Amino acid sequence: MNDMPVAARRAFYDQIGVHALVTRTPATPAVPALWDYDGLVRSFLMQAGELITAREAERRVLVLENPGMPGQSCITHALFAGLQLIMPGEVAPAHRHTQSALRFIIEGHGAYTAVDGERAVMEPGDFIITPSWTWHDHGNETDQPTVWLDGLDVPIVRLLDASFQEPANAESQLVTRPLGDSLARFGSNLLPVDWRPRSKNSPVFSYPYARTREALAVLARNGDPDRCHGHKLRYVNPATGGAPMPTIGAFMQLLPGGFAGAPYRSTDGAVVVCVEGRGETIVGETTLAWKPRDIFVVPSWTRHRHSATSEAVLFSFSDRPLQEALGLWREARAVE
Ligand SMILES: [Fe+2]
Repeated sequence: MNDMPVAARRAFYDQIGVHALVTRTPATPAVPALWDYDGLVRSFLMQAGELITAREAERRVLVLENPGMPGQSCITHALFAGLQLIMPGEVAPAHRHTQSALRFIIEGHGAYTAVDGERAVMEPGDFIITPSWTWHDHGNETDQPTVWLDGLDVPIVRLLDASFQEPANAESQLVTRPLGDSLARFGSNLLPVDWRPRSKNSPVFSYPYARTREALAVLARNGDPDRCHGHKLRYVNPATGGAPMPTIGAFMQLLPGGFAGAPYRSTDGAVVVCVEGRGETIVGETTLAWKPRDIFVVPSWTRHRHSATSEAVLFSFSDRPLQEALGLWREARAVE
C-alpha cells in the first residue's frame, strides 16, 4: 500500500467514504439562521395557542429547526431549541425525562415553572433549568400568554441511547418548598452548612434576570469590554463553579452601544437570544440583524463578530461544558 500513488489512494478513500469521517476542521451541516420573533414567529405561536391545548403542550412547541438539517428537529447538531406557549389558565402536566432542559423567558409576567416541588415565577430574561430526571410542570395563573425558549440536549441523549421519560401521577406537583427557597439556600454566595451536592446539577434552578442585569451594568460601568465578547458572564452551579447542567452551558453578555467586536469562533455551536438593544452578528458570510426577542444560531467553528448599535444584552447557550469535559472544546480569536 505504501507505494500506492497519492491520487489512487485518494480515489480509493473516496470510494470507501473514509475521508468524510475524520475532517481537518469541524464540518457542521448547521447553518447560521435567525428567527424574527415579533415579525413572524409570535403569530405562529398564538395560532398554535388557539388550535392545540396545553395538555398537548409537547406538540405546542414551535421547533426552531436549523435549515441546514431539515427533518432533524435540532438547532445545532447537539441541541434542540423550541418556543413554548402557555395561555392563561393552562397547566402543562408534570413529568420528568433524562434530557436536561433550560427555559429562557421571552414574554409574560408571573407564570410559574415547578421543579422538584418548588415553583419559580417567570419574568422575561429569567434563566431556569429543569435538570435531567427532575420533575417539572408549568402553569399560567395570569391573564396573559407566557412564552419561553426551551433548550434541550435531545440529540446528545439520542446519540447515547439514554432516553427515559415518565409522566407524574398528578397534573401538578405538590408544592413542598416555598417560593425562593433554593435561591436563598444556594444562590446568595452561601451554601447550607454540611450540605453536599448529590447530583451534577446546580441546586439553584432559577436565575432571575434582574440580578444578572445588575452585574452586567456594574461591569460595563467599571471597565473595558472584551474585544470579542463585550462583557460576558457564564451561569454557574454555585456548588462547583461548573455549568448549571453537565451538557448545556448558558451565558449572558452586554455589548456597549457602538461595540464592534473582533472575529471569534469556537467548537460549541450557540443559540443566542437578544434580550435588549439592537445590532448585528456577521456569521461566516451571513449577516444576522437582531432586535429584542429575536433568536439566532451560530454554528460550530464558524467565524463571527457581534456589533451593537445601542447597548445590547444577549443570552446564549451551547454544549460547551460537555465538550470541555471530553477535552474537545477549542476557540480561536482572529489575529489582527
Ligand atoms: Fe419536559
